This record gives sequence, structure tokens and C-alpha cells, in this order.
Amino acid sequence: MKLEIDTHANTLTVTDTDRQVLPLDSDAAFELMSQQWLVQGWNRKYPYSFAWMGRPIIQLPEDIVRTQEVLYRVKPDVLIETGVAHGGSLVLYASLFKAMGKGRVVGVDIEIRPHNRKAIEAHEMAPLITLIEGNSVAPDIVAQVASHVRAGESVMVILDSNHTKQHVADELAAYHGLVTPGSYIVATDGSMQWLADSPRGQKDWTWNNPSEAAREFAAAHPGFVLEQPAWPFNESTLTKNITHWPEAWLRKV
Ligand SMILES: C[S@@+](CC[C@H](N)C(=O)[O-])C[C@H]1O[C@@H](n2cnc3c(N)ncnc32)[C@H](O)[C@@H]1O
Repeated sequence: MKLEIDTHANTLTVTDTDRQVLPLDSDAAFELMSQQWLVQGWNRKYPYSFAWMGRPIIQLPEDIVRTQEVLYRVKPDVLIETGVAHGGSLVLYASLFKAMGKGRVVGVDIEIRPHNRKAIEAHEMAPLITLIEGNSVAPDIVAQVASHVRAGESVMVILDSNHTKQHVADELAAYHGLVTPGSYIVATDGSMQWLADSPRGQKDWTWNNPSEAAREFAAAHPGFVLEQPAWPFNESTLTKNITHWPEAWLRKV
């Protein structure tokens, strides 16, 4: 696809199988340019340039804010996240729970590096964080995670570990039973489908990605709906998240 921005004529010309001239200040032009910004940002490792309360967090700022909107609405007792890395996302969720006076976080990673563990365990938010090391789909690890949820507690799950379709499908199978009505299980990083041709991408990402797993899961589980959470505030004409998490949010009905 060829995108030509003309700031004098105020147009965005899109040449693909056909040619379309859009007003530069239209929602459609904004969405196309945002998509390019997202892809090129990933090539520049833009999501790898933020920290939350001192811990690196590998997320796009919009995804952080959108997650905050959902957490404040759902207010789960327990948030389970697979994929800890440096711990920034665990610290983010724990800091929101601390401010809300409710909620705690369980993080699972196949390898929690000693310096990351030390920093997370020394963090102000550590009392709200439990770390579990192991493969997120190993039955003993799934059982360990489940043992941290008490009867009657509300639960949300964010899957941000290995992003192959099979692994995410296995995680969805392993953890969806913990999710409570009105809450979510989130298959993050479906943006891989747009990054297959990128320098750091892989050809099979067109199909081998979390969104594919989420779509198949939703089709097989009528108790879950795959939908972008509603925005609690919107004075814009826009309606779509600019996100690395497309087709990610599975709401338990
Ligand atoms: C994208 S990073 C997580 C980023 C983190 N959630 C954040 O927002 O900063 C992915 C992590 O998943 C972990 N991982 C990969 N395969 C895994 C598996 N099978 N089980 C658990 N964790 C896994 C990696 O070790 C890595 O730390």
C-alpha cells in the first residue's frame, strides 16, 4: 500500500488495488496513519521505551490507559498476568489496585531473572504482587496460580507471554475458567498480524498470532464475547483503539 500525505492539499492518498483520496482530517485518514505509526513504532521498539514506577513496561501508552479504564470499571479482586519480563505491567496493575483500595496481582513467567525478581520484590507495590516462575500452561503452574484465588473472588486474566497461536490457545483453555462474569481474559499483542513483513517480524505471524487464538476461542465458547471494551469518555469522533491488542478482549458474559 502507498500512502501519500499532502499537508498543503490536506489529503491522504491511498493507493492499493485502487486509489482513494481522503481528507487528511478524516477519521479514516487518522486510522490509516495511526496504523502506520503503530507498525513503524514497533520497528523502532517504541513500546520498549517506557517505565511504570521505575520498572520497564513493554506496552503502548494507549494500551496502558485502556487497561486502566477496564480495571477501574471491573475492579477485580485478582488480576493474573502471564509474561512478567521486568515487572512493569505487574507494578502498573498493583499501583492501580493500591489506589483503588482493592485487588492484587499474580504474575507468571517461564524465567524471572534474578535482577528482575529482586527489583519487583523490593518495590513499593511488592505486597500486592505474587510471582510464580514456570511455563504458564504447565498443569502444576496453572494449579499454583488458581490456588491464589479464593472462593467468590472476581478475576481478570491478561495473557502476555509466548504469543504463538497455539500457546495463547492453550493459555485460554487453562485460565478462562477462572474469569468471572463481566470480567475479561485478554490475548494481547495480536498486532503481530500486521508486523509479519517488518524487519523484526516473522512470515507466519499473519496467522500465528494471539488474535487468531482469541477468535477461535470465542467461536467455540459462547460464554465469551470478543469485543473492544467501551470507552468511558469520548468527545472525539473516533471509536477504535490504536492498539497492539486488536481482537484481544474476551468478556465473560
Ligand atoms: C512481552 S514480555 C511480557 C511483558 C510484560 N507483561 C510487560 O508488560 O512489561 C513476555 C514474557 O513472557 C515470558 N514467557 C515466554 N514464554 C512463556 C511461557 N511459556 N510461560 C510463561 N512465560 C513465558 C518471557 O520470559 C517474557 O518475560
